Amino acid sequence: MKISKTEAMEVLDSRGNPTVEVELTLENGITANALVPSGASTGEKEAMELRDGDIKRYGGKGVLKAIENVNRIIAPAIQGLEITEQKHLDLKMIELDGTENKSRLGANAILGVSIAAAKAAAQYCNLPLFKYLGGPSANILPVPCMNIINGGKHSDNNVDFQEFMIAPHNAPNFQEAIRMGIETFHTLKKILIKKGYNTGVGDEGGFAPNLKSNEEAMEVIMEAIVQAGYKPGDDISICLDPAASEMWEDGQYVNFKSDKSKRTSVAMVKHWCDWVHKYPIVLLEDGMAENDWNGWKLLTDELGDKIEIVGDDIFCTNPVILSEGIKKGIANSILIKLNQIGTVTETLETIRLAYKNNYNCFVSHRSGETEDTTIADLTVAVNAGHLKTGSGCRSERISKFNRLIKIEKMLGKQAVFAGKNAFKNV
Ligand code: PGA
Ligand code: ZN
Repeated sequence: MKISKTEAMEVLDSRGNPTVEVELTLENGITANALVPSGASTGEKEAMELRDGDIKRYGGKGVLKAIENVNRIIAPAIQGLEITEQKHLDLKMIELDGTENKSRLGANAILGVSIAAAKAAAQYCNLPLFKYLGGPSANILPVPCMNIINGGKHSDNNVDFQEFMIAPHNAPNFQEAIRMGIETFHTLKKILIKKGYNTGVGDEGGFAPNLKSNEEAMEVIMEAIVQAGYKPGDDISICLDPAASEMWEDGQYVNFKSDKSKRTSVAMVKHWCDWVHKYPIVLLEDGMAENDWNGWKLLTDELGDKIEIVGDDIFCTNPVILSEGIKKGIANSILIKLNQIGTVTETLETIRLAYKNNYNCFVSHRSGETEDTTIADLTVAVNAGHLKTGSGCRSERISKFNRLIKIEKMLGKQAVFAGKNAFKNV
């Protein structure tokens, strides 16, 4: 079955910023669409998101150039290609772009087409996307790591660390795990109100209160888990993404919103060791900055056999950078964001490389999201066992949870909930 038409348009993401939507049509009339997400605390080596830079429109954030690249350059070049040949299609776009980081056509243009094609192919094969991408062995439902307190670049409070997540793992299935997480989220709201804090939410739907310290975020989460009726560590554990690259400057960690302190890499590692000792933490993402490879090595040596250490900004879902990390013994898991690399094919290649080297894959949304639920399917397709896609509110986050509930139902008795084993070395 061949591609007959590909068309892009400018729509909006969850922050009200323009993004790319692609609609792809096959010769038999099947159509599929994809919407592209966008990050705020981006890694330096991510594939490039093409923005117009015309300050008269959306403060320069328009994506009309990317749209035009789909409609004028990509669409004619892929017309007539076989839809089930995803790799051929993605390589064709990479070749058309011709740059290292997809900066000519834009990763947002390329990824929109790549995902829409995968969805059209799944429809053509009469398979749900997770089965089309993952085959008959795709059956593991992930632990939903829910980001219930937002700090860093995702909110305007004084909490330094970007994401405080709860991982409800002691559940018989995904649907129950979500219930546990949501109940804890709602309990946290009551606790914050009682303490006189604001319960407005940040970009990913977690609360963004002006807490007195980062420790207080951990303490209120522990309280919420207990008050919701669960045992910290046994039922629900904690995952963190401090997004440490945002604090890194001239070889030190300095950009803290809460105080003017300066921390060396060694002090940062010590901080994480102390917290892992004190709290039921099972996963730490970007505990060190992307340009602090020595700090990363130290962190992995200290904690890599106790918890999952995930590289986000440092690896950018890029197989070449991941290879270097593997060689140097950095991290034991990689964050997977489709738009950091820009095609479905390269994303799957990175995942294969990670698994081959005994690394975990942690599938992720972006802080700027849409109603597109592709990452829910991707998580199950590659049996990743855990994902992060926001908190217990905001429909661009909840849509992924709802899709996973549906996938669990579709799989029926075949479905297996990952549970605590999902986390590396825990
Ligand atoms: P971003 O944040 O989408 O703003 O990059 C998510 C993350 O850092 O994991
Ligand atoms: Zn991150």
